[in-house]
Amino acid sequence: MRILLTGAGGQIGRDLINELLRRSKEPPSIVATDLRTPDAADEQEHVRWSRLDVTNEAATRAIFADFKPDIVFHLAAILSARGEKDPVTAYAVNQTGTWNVLEASYAARVKRLVFTSSIAVYGPGLPDPTPDAVPLQPATIYGVTKVSGELLCDYYTRRGWVDCVGVRFPGLISASLPGGGSSDYALFMYVDGVRYGAYEAFCRADTRIPLMYMPDGVRALAEISEAPRHKLRRCIYNVAAFSPRADEIAASVARAVPGVRITYVPEPVRQGILDSWPKALDDTMAREDWGWKARYDLDGMTDDLVPRVRELLARGVDLSHSNR
Ligand SMILES: NC(=O)c1ccc[n+]([C@@H]2O[C@H](COP(=O)([O-])OP(=O)(O)OC[C@H]3O[C@@H](n4cnc5c(N)ncnc54)[C@H](O)[C@@H]3O)[C@@H](O)[C@H]2O)c1
Repeated sequence: MRILLTGAGGQIGRDLINELLRRSKEPPSIVATDLRTPDAADEQEHVRWSRLDVTNEAATRAIFADFKPDIVFHLAAILSARGEKDPVTAYAVNQTGTWNVLEASYAARVKRLVFTSSIAVYGPGLPDPTPDAVPLQPATIYGVTKVSGELLCDYYTRRGWVDCVGVRFPGLISASLPGGGSSDYALFMYVDGVRYGAYEAFCRADTRIPLMYMPDGVRALAEISEAPRHKLRRCIYNVAAFSPRADEIAASVARAVPGVRITYVPEPVRQGILDSWPKALDDTMAREDWGWKARYDLDGMTDDLVPRVRELLARGVDLSHSNR
């Protein structure tokens, strides 16, 4: 099996590579691409790193034509909070980049393309929990480009050009540096809770959005990449895990980090983005069509995550962030 990833150097990429290596009976051949060059920690057996800017059409086509991947995981993107600061780059990477990846996949006869969409495709005023098929009126350029990516995936699939599947992720939490999403407050309750015993969150205490622990997230991508097409009623599916209020996350962190102090000073742009997202996702269709089921709840995640954060900080790994 030949697997190519775009944006492989981000929060999801490394965990996804490990999940793909773990679950395959015969070692796959993986080409991991990203705009940034990998560091020594990225090097591992069966994985070749290569620099690729997905906004560069010729370079994207060339690497696909050369490697001829069976499966592509398209992760490269500018996330929600960063996208609002730089909509031009967000459009180039998320919109033009996705188009380039679709065209390169078509030309290289890729068997399946996996797209990573987001709850940011939704706008305010939707049912709680929010099902898959509702009007999509996103509040951010990130959401706009994800809606467009979903529609292109659907179109290419219907035309028989590329078999596309994907998931709408909630905010993903893992013990690694996040990429500038609006759900980053949740991870930093853990990181700064362990590191400083305190964290000032950029959202209100009653903010509630859907979240998921990364081991479930990468398993969702691997599972949908393997799902038989005849069982799929859609291209892109909601996947859900848990939907805590910010102060419920703080209480869960406090169980594992006694005495931690979490305070709330809402920052208008990111609070506005968070308020535009659904409070919970309905993932009934993913459960019915390809057997999706999350394994981690909030406290299960806390019990697994806190020791990992402690270990990373003890090793001196950089988990810095932008809102301090
Ligand atoms: N992390 C989440 O909570 C979350 C939630 C919903 C959806 N997603 C989606 O999952 C995917 C991966 O997210 P992530 O959390 O790993 O994001 P991330 O920001 O950590 O990683 C994205 C990667 O894309 C790379 N990139 C940026 N511009 C590029 C370009 N022009 N060409 C090639 N690579 C480029 C970056 O260098 C980075 O390594 C994204 O498509 C994102 O929209 C993530």
